[in-house]
Amino acid sequence: MTNPHRKILVTSALPYANGPIHIGHLVEYIQTDIWARFQRMCGHCCYYVCADDAHGTPIMLRARQEGINPETLIERIGREHRADFAEFAIAFDNYHTTHSPENQWLANTIYAALRDNGHISRRTIRQAYDPVKEMFLPDRFIRGECPKCAAPDQYGDSCEQCGATYSPTDLKNPVSAISGATPVEKESEHYFFKLADFEPMLHAWTRAGHLQPEVTNKLDEWFRAGLQEWDISRDAPYFGFEIPDAPGKYFYVWLDAPMGYLASFKNLCDKTGMDFDAWCRPGSDAEMYHFIGKDIIYFHALFWPAELHGSGFRTPSAVFAHGFLTVNGQKMSKSRGTFITARTYLNHLNPEYLRYYFAAKLGAGVDDIDLNMDDFLLRVNSDLVGKVVNIASRCAGFIHKRFAGRLGSELHNPALWADFTEAGERIAAAYDAREYSRAMREIMTLADRANQYIDDKKPWLIAKQDGGDAKLQAICTMGLNCFRLLMIYLKPVLPVMAEKVETFLNIGPLQWEDRGSPLTGHIINPFTPLLTRVEQEHIEAMMEDSKEDLGSTAATVHTVTNAHLARDPIAGEISIEDFARVDLRVARIIKASHVDGADKLLQLTLDMGGETRNVFAGIKSAYPPEELEGKLTVMVANLAPRKMRFGTSEGMVLAAGPGGKELFILSPDAGAEPGMKVK
Ligand code: MSP
Ligand code: ZN
Repeated sequence: MTNPHRKILVTSALPYANGPIHIGHLVEYIQTDIWARFQRMCGHCCYYVCADDAHGTPIMLRARQEGINPETLIERIGREHRADFAEFAIAFDNYHTTHSPENQWLANTIYAALRDNGHISRRTIRQAYDPVKEMFLPDRFIRGECPKCAAPDQYGDSCEQCGATYSPTDLKNPVSAISGATPVEKESEHYFFKLADFEPMLHAWTRAGHLQPEVTNKLDEWFRAGLQEWDISRDAPYFGFEIPDAPGKYFYVWLDAPMGYLASFKNLCDKTGMDFDAWCRPGSDAEMYHFIGKDIIYFHALFWPAELHGSGFRTPSAVFAHGFLTVNGQKMSKSRGTFITARTYLNHLNPEYLRYYFAAKLGAGVDDIDLNMDDFLLRVNSDLVGKVVNIASRCAGFIHKRFAGRLGSELHNPALWADFTEAGERIAAAYDAREYSRAMREIMTLADRANQYIDDKKPWLIAKQDGGDAKLQAICTMGLNCFRLLMIYLKPVLPVMAEKVETFLNIGPLQWEDRGSPLTGHIINPFTPLLTRVEQEHIEAMMEDSKEDLGSTAATVHTVTNAHLARDPIAGEISIEDFARVDLRVARIIKASHVDGADKLLQLTLDMGGETRNVFAGIKSAYPPEELEGKLTVMVANLAPRKMRFGTSEGMVLAAGPGGKELFILSPDAGAEPGMKVK
């Protein structure tokens, strides 16, 4: 590398703290992690930080639905995210949250600087307001008929049927997605960031090599459309940071989200004694890179550099955008079983398969990448197992059995070795330029050559010849040295396998510069399996697990349409407001017992996510109590308490069927949790 001691700060976009990590997200975290690992292997000082993006309306509402504080929700999701990332070997140097003191300090500091420099304006705007929940409604929380094509139940900003975009006030018969009430218009004062103040600075910055060319072109469109003022405030109730000089107003989640990068780094600096300002102020000799998806370019290529520039912080060295993941050629879908969460993947497959597959597909551009399941199986099996691991397994046995684990004292084919070490230059350049697919192609070409070498030399024949010992040892030593170089080159992608190889070869952690020196006269350990093949049935089981239980819902609907419908005719029509008044919740039956003297009832203790309820349910004929304990079900949570002979019933459990033995309690699909609202 030209510059031996680079100081590098790397980030990935902060995942929202209201849902699980899925394989689409993982494109980004794997892409970034490979890059950071590569830089560290080259001896650079590289910190990779990230955090959960914990603020905003969806998180506030999700917490409400679950009947818990937002703090409790983001704590739990944060824990899940960290566990998922750890198992995918995403090696963050720090993982923080935007709901942190460091981030509040940054938000306040940057805001105050922007305000004092005249970049904040205030004005009153009219917005949709939910009169029942007493809150302003983000566009996504208003639904109604599309003004263009009249499709029902569309979002407030765009129509999924005809693709039209519009403002929520254009929707016909709008309703609040939260309460079902008809929104009213209400005025409120908002705070705006005057992006246009930074037009000249941004115009120059976006052309100065900090962005990919296709991103710069996209930005040109936005420049031509004119840079608009950006609304950075939200009214209470909101989960976020209150604006210091504006009680009752909060910073919009996207204001403090990118600051979360620096907050996470500051948290790391405070823990380790590093100098935050030396990295994050103008004139710093450190580099700062943000890896992001193409959907959030506007925030990172315009707002963020402008905010930093306008408040006395350094701007990013570069922003690297990637494309979106499709699975089997289509958008990830719950019904097709292709909306695969990190956790479901981990339950069935080795994370390094996915790391390798993404590396084999990723380039430096913003093209979407496709995970084709058949291709995935073939590629991983043929490249990693069939080519790379095969080299080691063909050579290791002889070294172990015939030479007590000792490698020969020199390399059998210096020309091949020279090619292997030289290729390292090109592979390093490809990694550094995020051209991972090119790096993987180079590496697999080398693997083919190493296998060809072994095929030609036929160590298994030499092993049978008298006096062939020296030659056998030399060939296997050559093969294992090729293998070692391949593992240096693959280590950013396959860190777990690389660690197993380090144990097998009995060496310290592989570094990029190790490729210069061969391993000779050295004693290695017995070969152990390094990676097993991907099995088709594991892929199928994973996709089966990812299917939302649409199947069983459809089946229920189906039965309803025949026999049962006649018995229980559909009741009179109700309005959506009527329906919205019934508060249905997921509950876990934590205790079920017989009730003395009652021949139809069971007494249930239900956990609603913190709160417990006592309910008497007429389901004794269908369930022995012990069968119910631990099950999830659905309950009416706002039914007025009812005094019964045996005690007070505080709700109702939902069940279907004519009665007697044929009674089935409703239970939500896996993933639902006690307290969640049923909609
Ligand atoms: N919270 C914001 C980012 C704030 S950064 C200051 C956000 N979160 S997200 O959870 O929706 O997405 C996190 C990252 O994952 C984004 O960069 C996004 O582009 C990326 N991806 C989410 N789904 C993806 C795919 N299906 N494919 C590839 N990347 C995807 O946006
Ligand atoms: Zn439409």
